[in-house]
Amino acid sequence: MKIINTQVMVLVGLVLLVSCNKKTKNPVSQSSNNLIEVKIDSLLLLLTMEEKVDLCHAQSKFSTKGVDRLGIPELWMADGPHGVRAEISWDSWKYAGWTNDSITAFPALTCLASTFNPKLAEAYGFSLGEEARFRNKDVLLGPGVNIYRTPFNGRNFEYMGEDPFLAATMAVPYIKGIQKNGVAACVKHFALNNQEHQRHFVNVNVSDRALHEIYLPAFKAAVQDANVWALMGAYNKFREQYTTHHELLTKTILKGDWEYDGVVISDWGSTHNTDEAAINGLDIEMGTGTDGLSSSTKNHYDHYFLANPFLAKLKSGEIPERVLDDKVRRILRLRYRTNLSKNRPLGRANNAEHHEVARKVATEGIVLLKNKDNLFPIKDQEGLTIAIIGENATRSMTAAGGSSELKPKFEISPLEGIRTRFKKATVLHTMGYESGPSQYSRVYPPTLDQDSLKTEAIQLAKKADIVLFVGGLNKSHKQDCEGDDRQQFGLPFGQGDLILAISEVNQNLGLLLLTGNAIDMPWLNEVKGLMQTWYLGSMSGQAIADVISGDISPSGKLPFSFPKKLEDNGAHSFGIASYPGVDMTQHYKEDILVGYRWHDTKNIEPLYAFGYGLSYTSFDLDNIQSDKKIYSQNDTVKITCDVTNTGDLEGSEVVQVYVGKTNSKVERATKELKGFSKVKLKKGEKKSVIISLDISKLAYYDESKSDWNLETGDYEIYVGNASNNISGYMVVTVQ
Ligand code: BGC
Repeated sequence: MKIINTQVMVLVGLVLLVSCNKKTKNPVSQSSNNLIEVKIDSLLLLLTMEEKVDLCHAQSKFSTKGVDRLGIPELWMADGPHGVRAEISWDSWKYAGWTNDSITAFPALTCLASTFNPKLAEAYGFSLGEEARFRNKDVLLGPGVNIYRTPFNGRNFEYMGEDPFLAATMAVPYIKGIQKNGVAACVKHFALNNQEHQRHFVNVNVSDRALHEIYLPAFKAAVQDANVWALMGAYNKFREQYTTHHELLTKTILKGDWEYDGVVISDWGSTHNTDEAAINGLDIEMGTGTDGLSSSTKNHYDHYFLANPFLAKLKSGEIPERVLDDKVRRILRLRYRTNLSKNRPLGRANNAEHHEVARKVATEGIVLLKNKDNLFPIKDQEGLTIAIIGENATRSMTAAGGSSELKPKFEISPLEGIRTRFKKATVLHTMGYESGPSQYSRVYPPTLDQDSLKTEAIQLAKKADIVLFVGGLNKSHKQDCEGDDRQQFGLPFGQGDLILAISEVNQNLGLLLLTGNAIDMPWLNEVKGLMQTWYLGSMSGQAIADVISGDISPSGKLPFSFPKKLEDNGAHSFGIASYPGVDMTQHYKEDILVGYRWHDTKNIEPLYAFGYGLSYTSFDLDNIQSDKKIYSQNDTVKITCDVTNTGDLEGSEVVQVYVGKTNSKVERATKELKGFSKVKLKKGEKKSVIISLDISKLAYYDESKSDWNLETGDYEIYVGNASNNISGYMVVTVQ
């Protein structure tokens, strides 16, 4: 051991001398980073080819090997993205059954996006990173930043909505927060994994322009603005090649154009080919099944594409060793950033601060969609009877859903939260319907008699002063769950009929929708109040009680549009060739017009628009101005807007800046989100908000030159509190 250490020191010294005089291949700015590159140079000289190859693939379900003789530790990963997943067995997907791996469940990322509050995203990321560190994880498999294209996608709840600017703006602080703990974030799934249906097979065709303007910006921001240390490939193909080892996506764009210096990790079982994996930039292969070997076979992992087959090609010279060295350099860099970093803190889990962050994100993310006759807030008072009807009032929403499944130390249900807050009122509950157990990749039928549940619910509704229906989707297969998509736009399990039946006996009806997706609402006229409450994690019930009681005024804004009918959604308006695809191929025919871009540009009114959300108080946006009228291409536009709280309660408003361009050479969306700011105001208070945006960000992706193109001329700037509620409009000129 002593001899080896001396060798290492000598080599480090030698390489130091050499490296100080040359530019490393992946220069990183700070001197500590340069020192890391020097250490990596020396380790590359010491590692055998076999040891280097071993670093490039799994040794268990969620870890890769270390190199004991050189002090390189194993690398441990965990899902992601809403909390640190419970320990999985070494060789199978079964939970390991530990008793010390419960954690805080944070709200799902759709909820985080709805807060429009990047500071909260930072706090969320930091707390999650602390929990990952406490659980001895080096890589946390999140955030998910795939774009919400269709309300059918079973994994939309893990993502940050339909707008690339919003997703990027929220993902960057989340990633920075995690990585402050010496734990790598792993942004996923790169790229175009916008549906779960046939995810292992579907071949996506989309224009270069939509790729760069809609589907890649959040990944690009993760790389360039957050300096993310890990990125996960996706299952699907793009233009007939698997995205995990894609020549254009991984090699040219990610590692070439964006100069990404982190690792590319496969999704679990998304690697298909040794040559492509080697050459196109996959660094770590995880989760591959190998033909003819069961998971208990000892050398299972040696048969991975980046294991023995890779080694053989390296040995024969078919693949040059520099390909391996580039991967190992990145993998060692990841080690120095995480488990070889001397400065990383110890982490914490299940502490009061984390619960508070989870509760804050949850309360700020809840979106009030409708509030006829001020049904909400509900005042807790003697003599008031509140009937809580619906399975989701008590159902765990951290169980199932796929890889984001969590084992929280506690999960306060909506019913429990409401009961705790409403001490004077009488709170009664019945299920109303039953949907069967939460299960991944399988649907189990309900076991209770649905007619009796419905009858009981109607009897209860008759007795109550107010009915709160707590329904929506859940985390089971073909609901909001990994592995497949939803099958219907409407509410499942007979909830639509039940809502109508309840409304006939009690008009004081409010709905809490626990979903990660838009749904059809044919019953909307029959309900007075409607809240989008997402999946809120450990503090679910507390947060819901905070908002429905009026302790906190709602301030969440929708991160995606709710269409009036399914065909009004851009992806669905082109039929099955666009979604879910024909013969395993799909064309994103709506192109750049995703979400509100589609609704606005095609003049199709949404049911609820992107950026929309009500409050218990009211706001005025006025005195909206830009600092100049004419800008040069390197300028920054400063938009100012006065926001006044004109209602009777404290509350927060999100000022949103959208930009459009008429007389463009190419089709443009009517408007696109380019800036926003959330401001908290006391009753009667007024604040001036400044939102800056770089003129360079107004460029479109020009396919004729495969680059961004900033057109000169006039641009329209819209300022409002929803994509369809604009308070100020102006034209500025770019010269
Ligand atoms: C999912 C990933 C996840 C991985 C590990 C895959 O099936 O697509 O998001 O991180 O499993 O659980």
